[in-house]
Amino acid sequence: MLGEHSAISKHFVIMSQLAHRIYIYSFVTIVILVTAYLFYQGISYYSTSEVDRFYHPSHDLLKPSGAFGHGYGIVGTLLVLIGVFTYIARKRYRFLTRLGRLKYWLEFHIFLCSLGPILILFHTAFKFGGIVSISFWSMVAVVASGVIGRFIYIQIPRSIEGRELSLQEVRGMKTNIGTFLQNSYQLDQESYDAVLESTLVSYEERKTNLITGIVQKFFDDKMTIRRVKGILRKNGLSGPDIRHVAKLVGNELALNNRIDRLQTMQQLFKYWHVAHLPFALIMLIIMVIHVGVTIAFGYRWIF
Ligand code: HEM
Ligand code: HEM
Repeated sequence: MLGEHSAISKHFVIMSQLAHRIYIYSFVTIVILVTAYLFYQGISYYSTSEVDRFYHPSHDLLKPSGAFGHGYGIVGTLLVLIGVFTYIARKRYRFLTRLGRLKYWLEFHIFLCSLGPILILFHTAFKFGGIVSISFWSMVAVVASGVIGRFIYIQIPRSIEGRELSLQEVRGMKTNIGTFLQNSYQLDQESYDAVLESTLVSYEERKTNLITGIVQKFFDDKMTIRRVKGILRKNGLSGPDIRHVAKLVGNELALNNRIDRLQTMQQLFKYWHVAHLPFALIMLIIMVIHVGVTIAFGYRWIF
């Protein structure tokens, strides 16, 4: 496994944690600033009733065929297209694997495919009429399903190149916490057993509903970590040591949860693809018709 990872990682542009954080924060900042700006400069127009808009001083600029409004539609659509096709290309073509991890490309997909729909929303001037409204609502469905898909996606452990790991491989990621405790600290036998046992939860007992199961586990894990901290304190470990061991135990519990949910999540993700893709297709096809119609009607934007 390790050999595979290090060999592969040589071929990837790997960002440092800081660079990655800047990458993500820039995306989030851009999305927030653009949305705030569009609201700020259009709020008086968008909140005017449809009949009165015609007389609004910004009507010529902000209506869907106005210089700005039309521009938002074009730029937004281009962003979505770039976001979709670069991601699909990155997944499909091997030569692109050298240009960064799949994870970064997915983040870029999410960035462009969030910013694009926001611009398109302002393009419609919050007026969703005609056949193109099907495209609009499909877009809303794709974005909403994207958020759900992202949640499922991060639940499935992956290799660096973004391939889903098998159950076997995920089990291999578990650290040997017992050996670590024995080598590093002098815990009494009872405490040692108790800490070790806390990381060996049997999930078979807990065949509850997925959502309530996740919530219940979340609180159970918090309790477990608190209990482990108590045991370590009793054994006289220092603050940093307690935090270190608690973190290890926390990682183990998180991994246990992932192993427990792996099959369910893999199944869910398969079904999810079946929803995300068709909505994306409906959106794109009707959008092409919409653009064709507007061009046929003589709208040319600034050209
Ligand atoms: C997914 C992308 C898009 C969506 C969901 C969308 C949606 C809409 C909606 C809801 C309207 C308002 C319809 C109405 O007034 O009742 C509209 C109007 C318009 N759209 Fe789009 N649009 C998209 C992309 C584009 C693009 C790329 C262009 C240009 C190349 C464009 C050009 C126009 C024009 C010119 C109008 C005004 C039509 C008129 O006033 O009759 N749209 N669009
Ligand atoms: C209009 C907006 C969007 C469109 C048209 C769109 C379209 C697509 C397409 C065509 C794929 C490739 C599917 C495949 O490989 O089978 C995809 C994958 C994906 N998208 Fe989107 N998407 C949009 C927005 C979003 C958003 C907002 C998110 C997250 C918040 C998101 C999350 C994902 C995820 C997690 C994947 C799967 C990645 C994988 O399996 O490798 N998408 N999207």
